Amino acid sequence: MPTLATTVDGLKLPNPFVIGSGPPGTNLNVISRAFKEGWGAVIAKTVSLDASKVINVTPRYGKLHSSDGKEVIGWENIELISDRPFHLWEQEFKKCKDMHPDGVLIASIMEEYEKGRWVELVERCQACGVDAFELNFSCPHGLPERKMGAAMGQDPEILEEVCSWVKSATKIPFWAKMTPNITHIEDPSRAALKGGADGIAAINTIRSVIGVNLETLRPEPSVEGYTTPGGYSSRAVKPIALRMVMEVAKLIESEFPDRSLSAIGGVESGNDAAEFILLGGDTVQVCTGVMKFGYEHVKPMCEQLLAFMEKHKFETLADFKGKALPYFTTHADLVKRQTERKAAQKAAAAAAPAKKMVQADGEWTGDDFVKQSQALSR
Ligand SMILES: Cc1cc2nc3c(=O)[nH]c(=O)nc-3n(C[C@H](O)[C@H](O)[C@H](O)COP(=O)(O)O)c2cc1C
Repeated sequence: MPTLATTVDGLKLPNPFVIGSGPPGTNLNVISRAFKEGWGAVIAKTVSLDASKVINVTPRYGKLHSSDGKEVIGWENIELISDRPFHLWEQEFKKCKDMHPDGVLIASIMEEYEKGRWVELVERCQACGVDAFELNFSCPHGLPERKMGAAMGQDPEILEEVCSWVKSATKIPFWAKMTPNITHIEDPSRAALKGGADGIAAINTIRSVIGVNLETLRPEPSVEGYTTPGGYSSRAVKPIALRMVMEVAKLIESEFPDRSLSAIGGVESGNDAAEFILLGGDTVQVCTGVMKFGYEHVKPMCEQLLAFMEKHKFETLADFKGKALPYFTTHADLVKRQTERKAAQKAAAAAAPAKKMVQADGEWTGDDFVKQSQALSR
């Protein structure tokens, strides 16, 4: 019988499903519910020392539906970090650890670019007994106006410095959460790991505009008739998240082999988790999925991941972590491999399926265009 239990940076998790920072970890009440339902760990909503500067608006979410309107495939939010006073969080972190001593509670923290503030935040959370930190360097809206969040995450030098401040103050592991709103995610990830982060969490939301209302002719979500670009999450971002997780995993594998990776972006099922672990994730985080399906959704996710492991005869997550990573290469190498394979098959001259596919741009036809596109897809 395979096991989902795993130890990451010394943290003992019953399974790799972690509540991602956001609405599902906004207070003790919901965090407790997550532990009761069996989540592997909970990352609380991002906190900072001075919540009075955090002013949210309503509405603050916008959804993109499938064409039949039945499914939510994309989700934009313009929500800020926690608007609850920090002293309340200190009380709730302590209570939470009293109530769930074995539950892995991770504080997500964010501050302005000032060493004293980061050190104070780390020390005060640590004194409450939290098990680890996630440093939010990635919120794409609102906070960058105060040089926080993604504004820091896009600047590797600042990121390395802030991580080194945290490293000097913390006695527990910490992960640096990356913004996807950057060309090469390896650069800030490398800086965070050089600064002393035990792991990388990726990705946060992708800067987006969810749509324009064709009745009012205004962009959504509309707040007093106006909006601001927000962060995109849910199923639609999974392919982008997989690519970025793969890039971070390759960096970790080659330069920081003892560090961890928490994969995030559109995870809604055990199979989604399996894909992220095959690309190098130690854990997977779920945020919007909890808002869509509830805390109890962890059970079917665990069952599906176990079924995947049984099918492939994997006993532990380590048995398949990163197993798909070696199969990324350059386009030039794909061409070389395909040319070699075709040459080898020439004698048999029976490469029938390949022959039905468009080989060169001149072969596309107007009548068969959709069929030809599908034939080229996997
Ligand atoms: C409404 C909402 C609020 C969020 N708030 C935070 C936050 O406070 N801190 C943070 O690090 N990430 C926050 N996130 C980002 C998520 O933790 C996660 O990185 C992102 O949504 C992608 O994962 P998902 O597709 O599973 O939601 C938020 C996401 C949503 C949808």
